[in-house]
Amino acid sequence: MKKVVLAPSLLSADFWNLSSAIKKIESSSAEIVHIDVMDGQFVPQVSYGQPVIKSIRPRTSLPFDVHLMVEKPELMVDSFAEAGADMITFHIESTVHAHRLIHHIKSLGKKAGVSLVPSTPVASLSEILGDVDLVLVMTVNPGFGGQKLIPGCLEKIRQLVRIREERGLGFLVSVDGGVNNQTVSSVVDAGADIVVSGSAFFNGDFNWEYC
Ligand code: DX5
Ligand code: ZN
Repeated sequence: MKKVVLAPSLLSADFWNLSSAIKKIESSSAEIVHIDVMDGQFVPQVSYGQPVIKSIRPRTSLPFDVHLMVEKPELMVDSFAEAGADMITFHIESTVHAHRLIHHIKSLGKKAGVSLVPSTPVASLSEILGDVDLVLVMTVNPGFGGQKLIPGCLEKIRQLVRIREERGLGFLVSVDGGVNNQTVSSVVDAGADIVVSGSAFFNGDFNWEYC
């Protein structure tokens, strides 16, 4: 069976008890902590920011993938890098100068990821696929945990895998939104390298068998 990396999303953790959430992640087969940052502009809700990331950074050695669901991510990447992000993923819909931002994130010594919402085509990433370390395919409209996976988005995973092979590129494909025991096999079969899971991991009985 192909190995796929599990990345639990802290958004569905009990914020009253983040230390037990980190312990739960550490005692699972997860290899990345997915941290959803929302600004109330790009998406309607506000989640948490740099101070929270800073306070959990010393509590685990697992890498942090900070998923920025914010407008103007270029104003925030330095402070998220300083707070302890290992990968910084921003939305292609949220900024004009994506190429510059990717190289700025890399110049901070961090991995650079780019994400796309369900209505954005893979073609919008064409010019930067050779620059990014990761593409985060959203399989729900971002902003909330616990939504249903949109099956039409799975085709984007297949397209990205195909393009990566054709062009000899090295980015990873991560998939975020609505992944649970019922949908995980469709995401893995489509070619995901990393799978994000929030509500299924923290509130359900997520059965991960792709280690
Ligand atoms: C959605 C976030 C996701 C979310 C996933 O806007 O980017 O990372 O936490 O949650 P589930 O797995 O519940 O869809
Ligand atoms: Zn996310």
